[in-house]
Amino acid sequence: MQKAYLVYFSATSTTKKVVRKIAEGTGIKDIQEIDFTLPQNRDGSNLNIEEEALVIFGAPVYGGRVQINAEEYLKQFKGKGQPAVCVAVYGNRDFDDALVEMIDTVTEGGFSPIAAAGFIGEHSFATPDANIANGRPDADDNAIALAFGKKISEKLAVNDITAPEPRGNRPYTELSQAPKFGSAKTEACTLCLDCVTVCPTGAIDDNADCNPDKCIKCFACIKVCPNGSRVFEAPFLAGARERLSQIPRREPELFV
Ligand SMILES: Cc1cc2nc3c(=O)[nH]c(=O)nc-3n(C[C@H](O)[C@H](O)[C@H](O)COP(=O)(O)O)c2cc1C
Repeated sequence: MQKAYLVYFSATSTTKKVVRKIAEGTGIKDIQEIDFTLPQNRDGSNLNIEEEALVIFGAPVYGGRVQINAEEYLKQFKGKGQPAVCVAVYGNRDFDDALVEMIDTVTEGGFSPIAAAGFIGEHSFATPDANIANGRPDADDNAIALAFGKKISEKLAVNDITAPEPRGNRPYTELSQAPKFGSAKTEACTLCLDCVTVCPTGAIDDNADCNPDKCIKCFACIKVCPNGSRVFEAPFLAGARERLSQIPRREPELFV
């Protein structure tokens, strides 16, 4: 295989890092990225993949499922039977049903999954004080991603197109109704609007105010803010951080 597409949603860049490492491991040099994180990249113009290529799909896990904006857009991609890899990146709790969901979605879209993996990325809720997979993917994860990429190439080389069988429930666990909260600016905000440029749902306006109805709580705005002036003051957050930071380190799971 001479070409690979990386098709991903990645609000805080961990999914992007993982799929890029996997692609590097395949040894394929001609890589085309379709990063559909931002709303302007979900305009429908990039949905048909016609070339012969390996297609690596990546999305973060939210509530044990594929993040919903990512899932809605993934559903619209159309392939021509190309071999595909499904990668779910999660914050060290679990990927639950996200991999079976992604496999079903891309299969429906005309791709042929030959491998899947659950990788760990720094949790969106992590802080320097609440260590929830902080700094991941790290060097060990990267080595596993490279080796996974190599295995995929070996599978392609012998035309082995058996489908991966990751764990997960069908029907998928219902998405729980997330409480509506948005990030907020504090007095230190200089209105640089870096937060606006990274928001995957266009939830932040030109006054740096966030619409809670649109906010997906990805924390991209908080992580990008150059002077730490954005906050997210939801009552559930402290308990979630406490709970999540107790979970022992998990390792990537490969299905190939
Ligand atoms: C609202 C929300 C829900 C999440 N749900 C889960 C989950 O169910 N399991 C888990 O392990 N991580 C969960 N995470 C953490 C993300 O999956 C993790 O931070 C991932 O690395 C984000 O990917 P990205 O950097 O590509 O955006 C959640 C994060 C957010 C913001």
